[in-house]
Amino acid sequence: MFERIDYYAGDPILGLMDKFAADTNPDKVNLGVGVYYDEDGKLPVLECVKTAEQRIADPISPRPYLPMAGLPGHRKGCQELLFGKDAQILQDGLVATIATIGGSGALKVGAEFIHEWFPQSKCYVSDPTWGNHIAIFEGSDVEVGKYPYYDKATSSVKFDEMIAFFETLNKNDVVLLHPCCHNPTGMDLTREQWDTALTVIKARELIPFMDIAYQGFGKDMDSDAYAIRKAVEMGLPVFVSNSFSKNLSLYGERVGGLSVVCPSTDEAERVFGQLNATVRRIYSSPPSHGGRVVDIVMNDEALHEQWVGEVYAMRDRIKAMRLKLKSVLEEKVPGRDFDYLTEQNGMFSFTGLTPEQVEKLQSKYGIYMVSNSRMCVAGLNSSNIDYVANAMVDVLKD
Ligand code: LMR
Repeated sequence: MFERIDYYAGDPILGLMDKFAADTNPDKVNLGVGVYYDEDGKLPVLECVKTAEQRIADPISPRPYLPMAGLPGHRKGCQELLFGKDAQILQDGLVATIATIGGSGALKVGAEFIHEWFPQSKCYVSDPTWGNHIAIFEGSDVEVGKYPYYDKATSSVKFDEMIAFFETLNKNDVVLLHPCCHNPTGMDLTREQWDTALTVIKARELIPFMDIAYQGFGKDMDSDAYAIRKAVEMGLPVFVSNSFSKNLSLYGERVGGLSVVCPSTDEAERVFGQLNATVRRIYSSPPSHGGRVVDIVMNDEALHEQWVGEVYAMRDRIKAMRLKLKSVLEEKVPGRDFDYLTEQNGMFSFTGLTPEQVEKLQSKYGIYMVSNSRMCVAGLNSSNIDYVANAMVDVLKD
């Protein structure tokens, strides 16, 4: 009966976690999945989260169904983080926000919404992008295309080609953008480039869908939201999916949000209603625990401040690892340019290693990266960085 079902080849990123877990090499290093590990190689529990957890646990309270859109405090937390605490659009009720099951859940609900209400729209993603972007939109029967983004030869953004490509798109086509810490390249647009890109998007009446999973890991919370806020300032109807997996270190709680900025309150109400309907028919309503943590941390001034400090500490440690790796590689592999390591933002670095070099790192050294050469710099620490650098030096000799 099920013989005709295709085998699943596994996910290129999450599959690496299983391979890594099964590897018996005592020196193994996980630079695959986009997860922040601390200086001791441990997944941190943020102090602000510990406090929130204590409040939730004492007293242990009943667990009713949440509203389809999630907790109001979770939704408010998403809105203020993305658009700014005093944003006029929030006061004017122009943003429809739902709490979602991680950033992936936000993308899924958004993709379903696009499919239902903009059935002619295609979705264009950067080349390359996070593989699940393509899978999620195609899984909702939205046709996906790619726009030029990254030039491997120069480790830079193909900005002019990207803009020229946007000029060819049709009204209401969706362009999926990474406001900060581009996944997988780590290479972001400058503010001037965002201004130009958004001007073209507006002129061609495209729909910007901004996926922000690393807010706070680039420059700072506000700067990382520049593209989102600029799009709002320009009066664009923008979709934003956000994730708290990384910046609250709450990966397994699956907490995120989907916001749609609308031209009027009436439209925001309609969109909010349809987002609720979409949630109802996929998973009915979100789980409550992670949402309560988000609600507490985002809406308690002291905890929020503590949280921002904790995110910046993670950001700074990653930056220090970038600098260190760059200096070792520059010294040991003269003549090769490693500037990309400090030009890229966030957790990821596109190293430009070939699939064979990535494979050799894995089989010979137990160092795991994604086969497209993406390294999660947040997996480096003072104890493993020399080992990784020397292994890279070795495979680069081939
Ligand atoms: C990643 O890109 O590694 C993360 O976003 C985790 C994932 O789900 O792929």
